[in-house]
Amino acid sequence: MKNTAATLMQQKQSGEKIIMLTAYDYTTAHIFDECGVNSILIGDSLGMTMLGYENTLSVTMEDMIHHTRAVARGAQNAFIVADMPFMSYQTSVYDAVVNAGRLVKEGGAHAVKLEGGAAVCEQIKAIVDSSIPVVAHLGLTPQSVNAFGGFKVQGKDYERAKQILDDAMLIQQAGACAVVLECVPAELAEMITEQLTIPTIGIGAGAGCDGQVLVYQDMLGLTSGHVPKFAKRFADVGALMREGVTAYINETREGSFPAPEHTYKLGDGVLEKLKNYESMPF
Ligand code: KIV
Repeated sequence: MKNTAATLMQQKQSGEKIIMLTAYDYTTAHIFDECGVNSILIGDSLGMTMLGYENTLSVTMEDMIHHTRAVARGAQNAFIVADMPFMSYQTSVYDAVVNAGRLVKEGGAHAVKLEGGAAVCEQIKAIVDSSIPVVAHLGLTPQSVNAFGGFKVQGKDYERAKQILDDAMLIQQAGACAVVLECVPAELAEMITEQLTIPTIGIGAGAGCDGQVLVYQDMLGLTSGHVPKFAKRFADVGALMREGVTAYINETREGSFPAPEHTYKLGDGVLEKLKNYESMPF
C-alpha cells in the first residue's frame, strides 16, 4: 500500500507506530521498501554516511537530487521525504519554494524536510501552499551544529524545552505534516506528541513519539567511529560484509574462486576448432 502524508496522520490517530529509515540509493531503498517501512528519508546525513564529510553543511541541492532520484526508483510504497540542504531554504522564502520544487520535480520526492521552528515558518507555509508536504525537524538540528557548539541533546532546561514546544506548535500552524524530534528528552517529546495533532517521529527522543527514524548505517552496524547512544544496533551488517570480502580475497588468492559452477563453457567442439585456427596476422 502506498504511504502518504495522510497515512502517517492516520497512524498517529490509530496508534500504529510510524517507521521511517534513511536510505540514499536504489538497492537499499528497494530492500527497506520490501520490508515495509512507511517512509524513507533521504537525509542530508548522506554528507557523512555516503560522502565522508564531517557534518551535513557541505551537502548541495545536486547531491540531494541525485540520491533522491535513486531512492525514488527503488521504493514503490514508502513515503519519500528529501532533506533540504543547508542554505537551500534559510536564505529566502523564494529559494525555499524553488528548491523544494526541485526535490519533487527532479528528485521524485513526495515531501521535503527542513530544520528549524519559528525562523522557518514562512518557508514552511509557502512550500505547503505550493502543494508540497513539509516535515519539520526540531531539537538537535544538525545544520545548526556550529550555533549549538556541537552535537548536543537539546531541551534539557526549561527555557530551551519551552522554545522547542513553542516551535512545535508554530510549525504545525504553518502547515507541516509531521515533525522529526531529534535528541530531546523523552518526557519533552512525549508532551509534544500529546499536544500536536500531526505525527512526531523521534530519533533519540524516546518511545513516546508517534514513530521512529534511524540512520540505517547506525542501526545495521555500518558506521565507523562514534555512534550515538540512541542508535540501537539491530544487526551487524558491517561484520558480515567484512567476512564476505575477506572470503573473496582469500579464495581468489588461493585459486578456489571462481569454481566450475561460476564459469561459462564453450559449445561442443569449439575448443578443438579454435586450436586448429590460425588467427589473422595483425
Ligand atoms: O539527515 C538525516 O538523516 C536526518 C535524520 C537524523 C532524522 O535528518
